[in-house]
Amino acid sequence: MTNTASTTVTSPPTDTAATGIPGGTFTLPGGPTVTRMGYGAMQLAGPGVFGPPADRDAAVAVLREAVALGITHLDTADIYGPHVTNEIIREALHPYAAELTIATKVGARRDEQGGWPPARAPQQLREDVHQNLDRLGVDVLDVVNLRVGGLLDPEPGSIAEPFAALAELQREGLIRHLGVSNVTAAQVAEARSIAPVVCVQNHYNLAHRDDDELVDALAEEGIAFVPFFPLGGFSPLQSAALDTVAARLGATPMAVALAWLLQRSPNILLIPGTSSLAHLRENVAAADLGLSADDLAELDAIGRVSG
Ligand SMILES: NC(=O)c1ccc[n+]([C@@H]2O[C@H](COP(=O)([O-])OP(=O)(O)OC[C@H]3O[C@@H](n4cnc5c(N)ncnc54)[C@H](OP(=O)(O)O)[C@@H]3O)[C@@H](O)[C@H]2O)c1
Repeated sequence: MTNTASTTVTSPPTDTAATGIPGGTFTLPGGPTVTRMGYGAMQLAGPGVFGPPADRDAAVAVLREAVALGITHLDTADIYGPHVTNEIIREALHPYAAELTIATKVGARRDEQGGWPPARAPQQLREDVHQNLDRLGVDVLDVVNLRVGGLLDPEPGSIAEPFAALAELQREGLIRHLGVSNVTAAQVAEARSIAPVVCVQNHYNLAHRDDDELVDALAEEGIAFVPFFPLGGFSPLQSAALDTVAARLGATPMAVALAWLLQRSPNILLIPGTSSLAHLRENVAAADLGLSADDLAELDAIGRVSG
């Protein structure tokens, strides 16, 4: 590991206008190449990620625009709705372009109160992989993440049994690549001892940087780190320092927060979620926003203060 929690790894921003590729690309180990600027579909379900959206046509339009803007990495889960976002993805994009990678996750379900109880028994994982296959309308899932911890952060403990169950489904040809989500570094290591892990999806953003060391360690291994809540999720990022840097650059705070993640480490893949076409376009444009060393130093201080 070469970088510490207080050091920002910088990689040059990629000029989307020049390349047509938002934020440049990253090749998952042994797997497909995806745009580093992706899209997270959770916001396409109804309030509380439950039920249908108010405007289904608008949700379809957001997905089609994401692909039209060059995005080749979508994140979803059959528990969004449940079933709703996968069904909208299918309606909007099926048959899928060859270059599109759809990552989904299993390991939890929804209850009647809208909660997210764990569902990691091997039979439940098998059922939920089949739910994803059916709703997305595919024979093989590109990437399946085993979702482990609580809503926001990991909980320690062995994940050997559920990850081995997913590895078995991979051997059966139902899954191309495996990832893990809401996990500790020890759980990543345990999963990797069972089968290759191509991505880790954890809670991480400018203000929530518990995984700084994990980001750097995964970068050294060529494994993608996919931060969920890159914009703060249900509690949008708010910071005077972020506002100051954004005003100086003539950009929005959300665009700066995404540009910071892209420059933080080359293995970071973004999946900001939005139900708005305007926000989607703004988020993709953020891939072109270059941050100076001074900008980065000011932004780095936010994470050190809020821990
Ligand atoms: N593995 C897990 O346990 C887990 C947990 C949570 C999420 N995820 C995945 O991670 C993805 C990203 O997380 P997220 O969508 O919850 O949170 P997020 O990307 O941090 O933030 C989404 C929120 O920001 C707003 N927003 C987006 N772009 C904006 C912009 N340019 N300006 C102002 N507001 C903007 C959205 O509202 P509008 O709709 O109004 O734009 C929405 O309220 C999800 O879509 C999901 O695929 C995974």
